[in-house]
Amino acid sequence: MPVNDNVQIAPAEGKLGVLIPGIGAVSTTFMAGVEAVKRGLGVPVGSLTQLSTIRLGKRTDARTPMIKDFVPLAGLNDLVFGGWDIYEDNAFEAARNAKVLESSLLDQVKEPLSAIRPMKAVFDPEYIRRINGPNVKQAGTKMDKAQMLLEDIEQFRKTNDVSRMVMIWCGSTEVYHKTAPVHHTLKDFECGLMKNDPEIAPSQIYAYAALKSGVPYANGAPNLTTDTPALLELARERNIPVCGKDYKTGQTFMKTLIAPGLKARMLGMSGWFSTNILGNRDGEVLEDPGSFKTKEETKLSVLDQILQPKLYPDLYKDLYHAVRINYYPPRGDAKEGWDNIDIFGWLGYPMQIKIDFLCRDSILAAPLVLDLVLFMDLAQRAGMRGIQEWLSFYFKAPMTAPGLYPEHDIFIQLMKLKNTLRWMRGEDLITHLGLEYYD
Ligand SMILES: NC(=O)c1ccc[n+]([C@@H]2O[C@H](COP(=O)([O-])OP(=O)(O)OC[C@H]3O[C@@H](n4cnc5c(N)ncnc54)[C@H](O)[C@@H]3O)[C@@H](O)[C@H]2O)c1
Repeated sequence: MPVNDNVQIAPAEGKLGVLIPGIGAVSTTFMAGVEAVKRGLGVPVGSLTQLSTIRLGKRTDARTPMIKDFVPLAGLNDLVFGGWDIYEDNAFEAARNAKVLESSLLDQVKEPLSAIRPMKAVFDPEYIRRINGPNVKQAGTKMDKAQMLLEDIEQFRKTNDVSRMVMIWCGSTEVYHKTAPVHHTLKDFECGLMKNDPEIAPSQIYAYAALKSGVPYANGAPNLTTDTPALLELARERNIPVCGKDYKTGQTFMKTLIAPGLKARMLGMSGWFSTNILGNRDGEVLEDPGSFKTKEETKLSVLDQILQPKLYPDLYKDLYHAVRINYYPPRGDAKEGWDNIDIFGWLGYPMQIKIDFLCRDSILAAPLVLDLVLFMDLAQRAGMRGIQEWLSFYFKAPMTAPGLYPEHDIFIQLMKLKNTLRWMRGEDLITHLGLEYYD
């Protein structure tokens, strides 16, 4: 197999620590799932790293290895989990409370899950308003709290004898904030930590501690974290990959499947109304207008960027797009997302599409967490630093270089992801031109 001279990938030797702020529905479904798969109790459905193949060379070459055989990824048996939460429940108790997985399955992975006890969280009720808990670091400035997280990370590294780590945010969505002067440079940010600047969110303190410890950071929620000049400066300075943000699971996943298809056929759209009911803790936090605003921003940006109304005013200039999320406890994690799409065709004749997606949020999110952990570790071992745009596939609001618009079309994102893997291994990129078959 050809190997890219430019990209040296260090082998995935030893254990990989997975550090998770937020031991809630998504993270416990992910951890319990990994433990279940290890014991042969389930299949990791939804995970590219575990199930997908990658085509290499020409279509006539018949070379389609599994991704996990093509690039050196950490194995599931090498993952060690740890995390922080404002509640003291261990991962087994948290999984039981989340009510995503059945107790018959959870009971079979009780031992490893019960051993995962959340460390004390860095928490600020100004950033997450509907919940509060006792398991919180108390004293000191924001810099002191960052220091405590650095110690937690170091302690975790030693206790579990891990050779590498990845941090992935599975905590609640923080309230909407824009970048402030304190985020402009690393120096500003460190000053702000010492002065307890109110514009520094807990998630940013975790990210700072991760990057300072040489640990890649992935953001599964829509809040402002590593998408600030200060933390990007730190990531680049320390040669560490970062990615985000907001897992692309239920309704937005559907949007990025359907909208590119309609646009590909040059069909017009006058409205897209999306509403959701969900009853888990995430839904409760999103009841707060500040947290909802953060989510709304990432959910709304998708259509505008896919449809490009400025380039196609006849089709999309008057598009009305609304997204609602309603907290409805009886549904728990089994969310229902309705979409009404008003489209128009030839000569402007209107049509409608209705989607009713009875989905399971955490079941859709768990495989994304697994893939992100494994790919971020790969990126780190391949010497890739800063924003990992090739992982846009997993996010509602993909991080990009400043001034670059994000690519939301899921099939372009998938092509980018696979081409990046081909590039890492020195294989030809696949352009789908295919003229050579007809010479
Ligand atoms: N499930 C999905 O499909 C999906 C999709 C996209 C994004 N997300 C995001 O993923 C995140 C997790 O979702 P979930 O359903 O697991 O929510 P959850 O409420 O079940 O879990 C979040 C956990 O984070 C904890 N937490 C909050 N602030 C913290 C802090 N500062 N430090 C440590 N822990 C903290 C909470 O106590 C809670 O246990 C949310 O931000 C959600 O918006 C989920």
